Amino acid sequence: MALATPVIQERKPIMTRPDPPPQLDTATASELLQRAREARNHAYAPYSRFPVGAALLAADGAVFAGCNIENAAFGLTNCAERVAIGNAVSQGARAFHAIAVVGPEDDVACAPCGSCRQVLHEFGPALLVVTPGGADGAPLVTSLRELLPGAFGPARLRGEVPE
Ligand code: THU
Repeated sequence: MALATPVIQERKPIMTRPDPPPQLDTATASELLQRAREARNHAYAPYSRFPVGAALLAADGAVFAGCNIENAAFGLTNCAERVAIGNAVSQGARAFHAIAVVGPEDDVACAPCGSCRQVLHEFGPALLVVTPGGADGAPLVTSLRELLPGAFGPARLRGEVPE
């Protein structure tokens, strides 16, 4: 028996409008990547052997670092980005400008996983995300809004419909 052809209803798109091209000067992006590499030195990743470092730049210029912390019960692993957020929020910071993330290789992009994108989104979709892997060895700068379009977040719980 043939299934009925689904009717695709016209709806207001839930996708948010893209931000203007991400703006972060190269010196700041490079410095933040360096802080992420330093944090990576503390990664506890005996199971994956995939050390990750993150450095979160707060709106007031403070930098909060994080590294991945694995566990013998594998599912309890904490990603570097979420450790950085926990570090920052537990010290009173809630407004952030950018986060740099580095995986095991200094020059290969390592984008935040889906869970980390959601956790970062809690503190604002305009957050810039810096990884290695840009043109000519420069940092690659993108925004969380690009990495997690149409995200569910606190605005939706307040009853606001994303623009
Ligand atoms: N990992 C992170 O720290 N951040 C990510 O966004 C991706 C994955 C960690 C988790 C685990 O310890 C290792 O990388 C391999 O998945």
